[in-house]
Amino acid sequence: MRPEQIIARLFRKKTAQTFDCPPKEKLPRHIAFIMDGNGRWAKKRGLPRSAGHAAGTEALRELIRTVSDIGIESMSIYAFSTENWNRPTEEVQALMKLISRYFLSEIDELIEKNVRITILGELDAFPDEQKQALIQAMERTRLNTGLKLNIALNYGGRAEIVRAAGLLCEKCVRGEIKPGDVNAELFDECTYTHGQADVDLLIRTGGDERISNFLLWQCWYAELIFEDVFWPDYTKQKLFEDLNIYAGRDRRFGRVKEK
Ligand code: FPP
Repeated sequence: MRPEQIIARLFRKKTAQTFDCPPKEKLPRHIAFIMDGNGRWAKKRGLPRSAGHAAGTEALRELIRTVSDIGIESMSIYAFSTENWNRPTEEVQALMKLISRYFLSEIDELIEKNVRITILGELDAFPDEQKQALIQAMERTRLNTGLKLNIALNYGGRAEIVRAAGLLCEKCVRGEIKPGDVNAELFDECTYTHGQADVDLLIRTGGDERISNFLLWQCWYAELIFEDVFWPDYTKQKLFEDLNIYAGRDRRFGRVKEK
């Protein structure tokens, strides 16, 4: 193929294709999102970064509704990492305000939808009022049996692994287990997501291709999809497209496929 043909092919306008949701048995049990690109979405429009996070919250609202409606068991979202504290103070404050407001405005709908909220991360770093609101959200949805919505706040994958190792050491010291008893199941019980399926599909928007310290333990055999669109532009239609890509993936978990 000549270079100009290759270029023409690369830039050919894609025909808009619509995607249906794959059948239930082809869906991931646990889907996770790194919601990246809010800042760049805002910059492109001459807006402050906080406006990007606000637009990202709108996208999130639609996504949670869809994921709950199609019957996926668990959804994890990376809302604030342990590293995000290093952002400018105004941005951190705007994000905190947005997250608090989100819980206030959404909790009734989430309860109605039978969603169970789990916060992944160390809550002690949050101001008392906010911490109480987060604990209350978990308490109020504790008995719900629908979508398990995991919201990572002040979360880091390494910190979670270190915490789990510490909890296992404490169990040993108390004589509840012996060091030789430690295995993957016991370790998993000490993670924030214990009792849930491992991540089957991790989607990251914003164009970067890395995991950024998110769910390192749970993603051991996750399928990865990296999207160029910024998070506020990630729609239900994009989700269905990605679920179809996932449905077509050949998952072998290190085994050889039987013919
Ligand atoms: C990354 O984009 C995004 C975040 C650090 C925050 C994500 C938060 C939300 C989508 C909304 C709030 C969440 C809840 C639970 C209501 P970025 O700022 O790094 O974007 P950039 O890479 O373009 O700078």
